[in-house]
Amino acid sequence: MSGTIPRGHAEAAFPDDLIPWQRPLRAMFPIITGHPDLVYLDSAATAQKPRAVLQAVETYLTTANANAGRGTYPWANASTELVERTRERIKSFLSDPAPERSTVHFTSGTTEGLRTVAQDWLPTYLTDGDEIVVPFADHQANLVPWLDARKLLAARGIGIRIREMPYQTSSGDYDPAALAATVGPRT
Ligand SMILES: Cc1ncc(COP(=O)(O)O)c(C=O)c1O
Repeated sequence: MSGTIPRGHAEAAFPDDLIPWQRPLRAMFPIITGHPDLVYLDSAATAQKPRAVLQAVETYLTTANANAGRGTYPWANASTELVERTRERIKSFLSDPAPERSTVHFTSGTTEGLRTVAQDWLPTYLTDGDEIVVPFADHQANLVPWLDARKLLAARGIGIRIREMPYQTSSGDYDPAALAATVGPRT
């Protein structure tokens, strides 16, 4: 099965000046081993996948690809079991202190995750005059969901205020001291 995934050039092509942990780490990623001089810095947008992930996806797609949680035939049951097992492993990885009460939700990415919080979960708790502090300098994945939540609430007659997370003009870093002054009883 792994034969269909490019093996890259793990042994042959890495530069000699890699520090010890870099070689085995880079060798896990076929796309990186194919480009030994490349440094990839766009992981927030698209994470490169190590061979273990590529193989797990291929195994899944060739042995159990079906809807999880809503079928009773063998592939669907296998998918459901894989999803639930993964959920349990993530809870344990997160050292969840109360795993029996918690839920791990899978989303397609950051934007969908924040949208789910901002528009599906949070609005029921907000009332007229509440505020949300938003880091305007972040990626729009962490801006648009909050602005849309304000719009959604306005349509229901609830006015909330979006406040800008303060940052230090010298460094561009967020300013925790100024943040304390921004956060009020309605935040
Ligand atoms: C820096 C940064 N943050 C967040 C995101 C949003 O990620 P997602 O695609 O998981 O919604 C991106 C996507 O390009 C990004 O580049």
